Amino acid sequence: DHRQDASCDLRGLRVLITAGPTQEPLDPVRYLTNHSTGKMGYALARAAQSMGADVTLVSGPVALDEPDGVHTIHVQTAQEMFDAVRGQFSQADIIIMAAAVGDFRPDHRSDQKIKKAAESTLNITLVHNPDILAWAGEHKRKDGSQMLCGFAMETQDLLANAQSKLERKHCDMLVANNLNDPGAGFAHDTNRVVILTPDISSAACSRHSGTAQPVDTQDRHVHAEPQPLM
Ligand code: CTP
Ligand code: CA
Repeated sequence: DHRQDASCDLRGLRVLITAGPTQEPLDPVRYLTNHSTGKMGYALARAAQSMGADVTLVSGPVALDEPDGVHTIHVQTAQEMFDAVRGQFSQADIIIMAAAVGDFRPDHRSDQKIKKAAESTLNITLVHNPDILAWAGEHKRKDGSQMLCGFAMETQDLLANAQSKLERKHCDMLVANNLNDPGAGFAHDTNRVVILTPDISSAACSRHSGTAQPVDTQDRHVHAEPQPLM
């Protein structure tokens, strides 16, 4: 129980969390999305709230109840999630981006339903969505008073990909999970993660660049067994 643990006292802190998938509309009846259920982000929001934090949850479309005592902002698209995060960002002390944000959206949203009779093949051009976590990494306060945590879901090269995300997006912490690990992946009630921080990342860099210090980065990752989400 976090409430009994003084080291987990978040009273007076504002926590901003993103959760769930985004939906990128193609026309009034269709959209592109992913398998995210929002369980991770919602569990984090409940945990932070139970530790006394003032929690804002920016949620894509999910089938979960709003956590009690949490200010929940519902969005559909990546652009809407980005706008909501930008609106909350400067007040946040801890920012955790657990959402599975769509990387691309259709370049054009048809006002009318696309009719099959009018198309023999249908080509959809996709354009990049804003990277919300990368924006947060660029805009977080320079005095270190905002803590930024990202997630990474990978299907291969977990540590290398996660380390490059940690650095590229200027995160203070990155939670990496492998979609194919037992007990991890979409819609599970447990997860299995590796947590990376910048010291670990720079240790890895010094190894890659061949400098003297032999550092066993593997030992310094925090490996966690599948844990129940709250
Ligand atoms: N993220 C984000 N905005 C995006 C894409 C990702 O905020 N447009 C965040 C996610 O919430 C997560 C982290 O960035 O915290 C990593 O997401 P992930 O999809 O694993 O990485 P990408 O950088 O999008 O790279 P790729 O999908 O190509 O692996
Ligand atoms: Ca992505």
